[in-house]
Amino acid sequence: MNITVIGCGQVGAPLADHLQRAGHHVTLAARDPESESVRRALARNGHLVVAPPKEAVARAEVILLATPFQAHEAALAPVAEEIRGKILIDCTNPVGPGLSHGLNSVESGTQKLQSLLPDTRVVKAFSIYGYENFENASYPGYGVKPVMLYCGTDAGAKETVGRLIAELGWEPLDVGGLEQALHLEHMTLLWVRMVRAGGHSPHMVWARLQR
Ligand SMILES: NC(=O)c1ccc[n+]([C@@H]2O[C@H](COP(=O)([O-])OP(=O)(O)OC[C@H]3O[C@@H](n4cnc5c(N)ncnc54)[C@H](OP(=O)(O)O)[C@@H]3O)[C@@H](O)[C@H]2O)c1
Repeated sequence: MNITVIGCGQVGAPLADHLQRAGHHVTLAARDPESESVRRALARNGHLVVAPPKEAVARAEVILLATPFQAHEAALAPVAEEIRGKILIDCTNPVGPGLSHGLNSVESGTQKLQSLLPDTRVVKAFSIYGYENFENASYPGYGVKPVMLYCGTDAGAKETVGRLIAELGWEPLDVGGLEQALHLEHMTLLWVRMVRAGGHSPHMVWARLQR
């Protein structure tokens, strides 16, 4: 698939790298092609392509958003036309002071994003763990894969995103519609508070056991 990544920092760069290695054509949408984050992403994988945002999004079937939450409007306004009808994977989280929910738990960041882009098929995924697990999703020896929870409204978009999640070594778990995004964001905060403030290892993920 043609996949474009907006924001190639700690989260976007490893996901771009793994998606390219999985056989996809991955483009980095770069407002500044000389930026430190673009350079680092290219240093880890020279097969990634760099293009200006409008061009990068126009050529994409799937767009992965990994910018700071506060940057959404600035990052998306220039590509508002090109992103219509496409699948947008929202990897972002609104985080407030003291590792609280950045929108006071009134609304999820993903629903806010969907209201900014009403004609885009938004799916929240690759959001519930720290970047360490996007660098390396391998937990050998357990007999189960780490689980990646995702949600969205559009069934076709979720099917595509579920496939991409599986290709990167995760067990995809569709947890429902976009109204579940707020709960995924709280799951993220739980992980972040445990790891970044509570001393747990960042090399820790959740798994699904079912009978
Ligand atoms: N870090 C984690 O462990 C983690 C885990 C899960 C989810 N998340 C979420 O993922 C998102 C990205 O986090 P990160 O840690 O990867 O951030 P990061 O390392 O700071 O990278 C942010 C990227 O966004 C780009 N960017 C910033 N402002 C932009 C704008 N106005 N327009 C276009 N691009 C812009 C930056 O480009 P430049 O280099 O050009 O500035 C950079 O490539 C956040 O929403 C975060 O909450 C983070």
